[in-house]
Order: sequence, then C-alpha cells, then structure tokens
Amino acid sequence: MNRLRALLGLQLPLIQAGMGGVAGIRLCTEVSRAGAGGTLALYKEPPDRIREAVREIAAATSRPFGVNIIPEVTSPELCRAQLDAALGELPDNGYVTTFGLPGADAARDVTRTGRPLVVQIGTPDDASAALRLGADVLVLQGTEAGGHLLGELPVAELLYAVRTRHPDAVIAVAGGVATG
Ligand SMILES: Cc1cc2nc3c(=O)[nH]c(=O)nc-3n(C[C@H](O)[C@H](O)[C@H](O)COP(=O)(O)O)c2cc1C
Repeated sequence: MNRLRALLGLQLPLIQAGMGGVAGIRLCTEVSRAGAGGTLALYKEPPDRIREAVREIAAATSRPFGVNIIPEVTSPELCRAQLDAALGELPDNGYVTTFGLPGADAARDVTRTGRPLVVQIGTPDDASAALRLGADVLVLQGTEAGGHLLGELPVAELLYAVRTRHPDAVIAVAGGVATG
C-alpha cells in the first residue's frame, strides 16, 4: 500500500489543502468521507471556534481528517493554543498539517500525541529541517502552486532534490497537480 495512505489511514493518496477562509467544516467533512484527507484550516481562528468545529467534523465522519496551522501568521502562543484546542477534540486517527515549518514546541505538541505531523515546505533545506522536527510526511510545494509560495523551485526539481537527500521520507507534492 502507498505509504502516505497507510500512515494517514486514507483510501486515496490525496490530502486536501488547508485554505484559510475556504477549507471549513463542510469541505473537510466531505473530502474525508470521500476517502481522501479532509483538512480544516485553522488560520487565525480562536481556540473556542476550533474546538466546536473539530467536534462537529468528528461527529460527522469516522474517517481520518486533519487540522492545518500556519505558524507564520500566528504568534507562537496562538499557534500552540490552536493546537491545544484542536488536539483536545481530534480523534485518534486525526493528523496535523502545517504551512511552513512549525516551531519546535508546536511540533512536539503534535508528535507526542502520536498523531502524524505533515509539514509543507518549499526548499530542500526546509525539508531536512521538517524531518529533524519530527515530520512524518513532507508536502513539497512547487512554484506552480496557487496561494502563498514557500520556495522558488518547480515541483519536479524540488521533488528530485528532496528525494535524493531523503530516500526514505514519505512525500506528497503540491502545486498545479491536476491529473494522476
Ligand atoms: C486560496 C488558497 C488558500 C490557501 N491557504 C492555505 C492555508 O491556509 N494553509 C496551507 O497549508 N496552505 C494553504 N494554501 C496552499 C496549499 O496548501 C497548496 O500549497 C496549494 O494549493 C497547491 O497549489 P494548487 O492549488 O495549484 O494545487 C492555500 C492555497 C490557496 C489556493
């Protein structure tokens, strides 16, 4: 079985992007029900709303889903408060995705619960840093991607560079992917 599917417990090797203001309860729930990785965007949401939202998704699907944090748009304190709220409600089969590198404390908050940590990065050096922080899955974002960019390499070049450095890493790619 594909290692991404096995690690996240998915039927399809696809993770929906957390998208602040776009990827809410309904999208996350339906993607998860369809067998891929539904993801709730936490963006700058306050902890109370996060608790309610995660609870609502968990009540609607028993399939795995995740929550997405963006460390660069939150203070370290809000980031950890968001994680604390989400992890308190997230089922055991849930996971956490980050846009960019999480702080060491935030990464530890996730990994010590035993839930997978999925880190999206855009450079080979950040891929290595993410693995040192305990990332279970790397999402490599190429310059084809919509939204804010994390690096300067097209996805094929980034994949080649990271796969060469880290032959055993579990890797997904992001950016203009429209077909199998
Ligand atoms: C409207 C929009 C909002 C986004 N917001 C987030 C976000 O909140 N968190 C995150 O991890 N990634 C976010 N992303 C980036 C995606 O994770 C991913 O890198 C990108 O969508 C891949 O490019 P593609 O949509 O062309 O496949 C966003 C992307 C878009 C298009």
